[in-house]
Amino acid sequence: MIAHLAAEYERRSPKSAALQAEALRVLIDGGSHTIRLLRPFPPRIVSAHGAFVTDEDGHQILDFWQGHYANILGHNPPVITSALARGFQEGFGLQTGFTDALQVRVAEILCARTGHERVRFTSSGSLATMYATFLSRAFTGRELVMKVGGGWHGAQPWGLVGVDYHAEDAQSFTHAESKGLPHGTESQVIVTRFNDVPMLEELFRAHGNQVACFIFEPFLGSGGCLPASREFLRTARELSTRHGALLIFDEVIAGFRFCAGSSSRLFGISPDLATYAKVMGGGMPVAAVAGRADVLALAGRGGGVKFSGGTYSCHPASLSASRAMMEHLVREEATLYPRLAAMGEKARRTVEKAFAAAGIAAQCSGDGNDAIPGSSMSAVHFPYEPGTVCTSPEQTRNPDVCDVELADTVVQLALLLDDVFVMHGLGAVSAAHTEKDIERLGDACARAARRIAVFA
Ligand SMILES: Cc1ncc(COP(=O)(O)O)c(C=O)c1O
Repeated sequence: MIAHLAAEYERRSPKSAALQAEALRVLIDGGSHTIRLLRPFPPRIVSAHGAFVTDEDGHQILDFWQGHYANILGHNPPVITSALARGFQEGFGLQTGFTDALQVRVAEILCARTGHERVRFTSSGSLATMYATFLSRAFTGRELVMKVGGGWHGAQPWGLVGVDYHAEDAQSFTHAESKGLPHGTESQVIVTRFNDVPMLEELFRAHGNQVACFIFEPFLGSGGCLPASREFLRTARELSTRHGALLIFDEVIAGFRFCAGSSSRLFGISPDLATYAKVMGGGMPVAAVAGRADVLALAGRGGGVKFSGGTYSCHPASLSASRAMMEHLVREEATLYPRLAAMGEKARRTVEKAFAAAGIAAQCSGDGNDAIPGSSMSAVHFPYEPGTVCTSPEQTRNPDVCDVELADTVVQLALLLDDVFVMHGLGAVSAAHTEKDIERLGDACARAARRIAVFA
């Protein structure tokens, strides 16, 4: 089936195909980020506005990925582009190598909207989770990092353990996903199961006094768009405190996604540290580690943790975008987030209905729960057992439970033939998406489902 879809895709995208041939001569696999390099080749984008991107072949693609989920207002929203243009006109844009008032203002907004005491900026989510791990290990004097199987914390050593599902292994989520990691990294990571309270209790009982930190996403993103239950969050907080481990919420996706601040504000549980990026950067590279002053103090003079930021940390243009984005979200919070959640809900039900009409049972995750009231993010799963509601990556990423290839690859390519782009079967609704766009998504899913049903 995939070969048939790929052939049709190649026929309708000759310019992107030609660019792929050129790209392969200079770039590994034709690009620099694996997930963007869909097969047979990605559409090469020339411009992006609101809910749409336009590719070299002139297709206007309705985009539900929105810059790795960063663009909560859609592509290139005027609120951000005008702030950037203003800055550049005034000679405040590229890196100066100095410090300025802007980073103080952005830190103030971030602390006020998250409840954290201190913040230090960096330039990617991967660096933020890595620095948060350094801080935790230094603060506690312990080695072990506890994480959730299927949780993604970016490309840093401890984050690269237990990400992909390994069907051949009963533990399924304990492998190191990269060669070349520092010796012993794998044995420094303990992997627990998302939303599984008894397993968390058992692991803390067994290893609690060696655990430096427990890091997880309060809303699991690439693991399947699954919100943590309130009980899981509460237990994580309680056990981390009891065992002297630091609790880190990786809010790289969740921060400013469900309200104009940290998601922890919604469920009233404070981590010791939290990491932010994506939405708070307004489409520019901004990330942050925020949290307890006594822990972050280790990043300061004499603290001993080399959290030195990097040449492009606190980049003036990036922080201009970040301030514009956060201020906008704060202003619009009361109307923006309920609308996004309602649109997310509508997208999920529309997609399920479209597949059901072709006899394919699809289950969309991303609905709110007792911790997060509603969400603009969704993934599609195709469980073999009708009625299965997936609550952990042990289901969503397990090819014996769900048709993972159908969700990840086949649906993506089938929808692209209709100029709709999804990630993990769906993705994120932005403020730029309209009811009409959701209807278009439904129609495209219906056509994709019919195509798929023919080959099934
Ligand atoms: C939850 C989470 N943490 C960390 C990262 C890494 O962020 P970055 O891609 O900015 O390095 C990601 C990226 O997708 C993420 O989703």
